[in-house]
Amino acid sequence: MPTIAFMSSKGGAGKTTAALTLALGLARRGENVSVIDADTNQPIMRWRTHAAGLENLTVFPARTSAQLLQALDDARAQGAWLIVDTEGTARSWDQVGAIKPDLTIIPVGASPLEAAEAIRTSRSLQNMATFFDRRLPHACVFTRLPAAIRARSFGLVVRQLRAERIAIIETPLIEKEAFRAMFWNGGTLDSLDPEQVSGLESARNNAELYAGDVLRLFAPGGPLHQAPPAPAVAPAQGWAPQAAPAAAMMPNAA
Ligand SMILES: Nc1ncnc2c1ncn2[C@@H]1O[C@H](COP(=O)(O)OP(=O)(O)OP(=O)(O)O)[C@@H](O)[C@H]1O
Ligand SMILES: [Mg+2]
Repeated sequence: MPTIAFMSSKGGAGKTTAALTLALGLARRGENVSVIDADTNQPIMRWRTHAAGLENLTVFPARTSAQLLQALDDARAQGAWLIVDTEGTARSWDQVGAIKPDLTIIPVGASPLEAAEAIRTSRSLQNMATFFDRRLPHACVFTRLPAAIRARSFGLVVRQLRAERIAIIETPLIEKEAFRAMFWNGGTLDSLDPEQVSGLESARNNAELYAGDVLRLFAPGGPLHQAPPAPAVAPAQGWAPQAAPAAAMMPNAA
């Protein structure tokens, strides 16, 4: 099953939130999901110790590189979707060769400065891809997007990423209290109480669309479908133009 890593050179970009939201989105569709928490602070491990149920979602701790190798072995033995939350430091870059992600998701806020950081992360992945001589497909997902962001400023950031031919996951994660509240007490968007968490319903819809977008990337005929040869892809809305020769960064590159 696919391995999806969350990485960014910028701290607090939204990696952990986007990783857990995706894991839960896949799990609620009945998929078996393993999560490796490779952040030394172990936020998803802490979340898991409070979360009830969710038999099809297993979290593996990986505070050190040695633990990561063990967790990768253990998680891969389960044959489930594998989601790796990294801590976004230099250590994470050293771990890419072991993680061998089929997709790396780079969370990015809708500001030019954050886009510049995401571009830096994308370029590092391209360098890694050359170094390891393997594809490292990656895409940005907008996170913490203010519901009232002006279309023009958002459009400028999208253009900044597209100019670098970086793919963008179509559904952004909106800035919602519910995405923070999941971490209060091992909650999920399903278990949280709409009386206590504002905007829960729209966060649920948002998460559902986002998980659907990622799933579609791996579906037969999708840009990351793993059957050889890699299929040619008609650019879906929200994805970068497909004409670039920079194979390492293109999700559909052969
Ligand atoms: N969609 C969202 N809506 C509201 N708050 C969010 C959202 N995404 C992230 N946050 C908040 O932003 C902060 C940073 O998010 P998160 O911890 O997911 O980032 P990170 O990239 O994993 O950080 P770190 O680099 O420290 O690991 C947290 O307080 C989190 O609750
Ligand atoms: Mg984190």
